[in-house]
Amino acid sequence: MWRSRVRFHAPARAAARNRAVVEIGAGSLASLPFYDPARVRTIRAIEPDPVMRALAARRARRGELAVTVEDGCAEALPVGDGCADTVVVAYVLCSVADPVAALREAARVLAPGGQLVFAEHAASDGPVAARLQRGLDPFWRRFVGGCSLVRDPLAAVVNAGFTLRRCETGVFTGALAALGRHLGGIAEIGLATSAGDTDAGMR
Ligand SMILES: C[S@@+](CC[C@H](N)C(=O)[O-])C[C@H]1O[C@@H](n2cnc3c(N)ncnc32)[C@H](O)[C@@H]1O
Repeated sequence: MWRSRVRFHAPARAAARNRAVVEIGAGSLASLPFYDPARVRTIRAIEPDPVMRALAARRARRGELAVTVEDGCAEALPVGDGCADTVVVAYVLCSVADPVAALREAARVLAPGGQLVFAEHAASDGPVAARLQRGLDPFWRRFVGGCSLVRDPLAAVVNAGFTLRRCETGVFTGALAALGRHLGGIAEIGLATSAGDTDAGMR
C-alpha cells in the first residue's frame, strides 16, 4: 500500500510542468519511476541522510533521467532562487522541524508560475482516530525518525503563501491506519491569504 499509486498520483499528474524538478527529502528516490522522461529535464534530489542519498544515487544511475543527488535540508535548500519549475515533497513535512519555513524555502526556489507538488499524511479528521494519533505521537516520533502523526500539511501549504490548485484526500488503512489521512495535491505561489480563499481554487 505504501507503494500504491495514490502515493505518487500528484507528482505524476504534474509531469507536464516538471522540466526542472527539485525533490525535497527524496529518500531513496522511490519517486523516480513516476517522472516522465519525455517531460522532465533535470531532477535535483535533496536528502540529508547519507544512507538514503547512497540508495538514491544508485537508483538514479540505473535510470534514464538526469538526476543529481545532493546533501541538504528543507529549511535551507542548496538551490538558487527561482531555479525550479516544480518542487516535490512526499512524506517529508511530517519530519521537518518547521513545515511552514520549509515550504517558504520551496517557494523561494520556484520559478514564477512554478508548482509545488505534495503527497503527505495528516492528522485524522475523525475525533476518535485523532485522539489515538495524539496518544501514539510521542512514541511514533521517537521510533519513526521524528515523523509526527498530528500535523496538518494543508494548513502549512496555505500558511507558507501557496494557493491550492488541486487536492485529493484519502485515508490510510490496515497497518498504515495510524498515518491518518492522505493528501495529494498541487499548489502555486499565489495571492490567497487564507484557507477560505484557497478553497475556491480546489478541484
Ligand atoms: C518518509 S521519508 C520519504 C522519502 C521520500 N520522499 C519518499 O517518498 O519515499 C522522509 C524523508 O525526509 C527526509 N528528511 C527528514 N528531515 C528532513 C529535512 N529537514 N529536510 C529534508 N529532508 C528531510 C528523511 O531523511 C527521509 O528521507
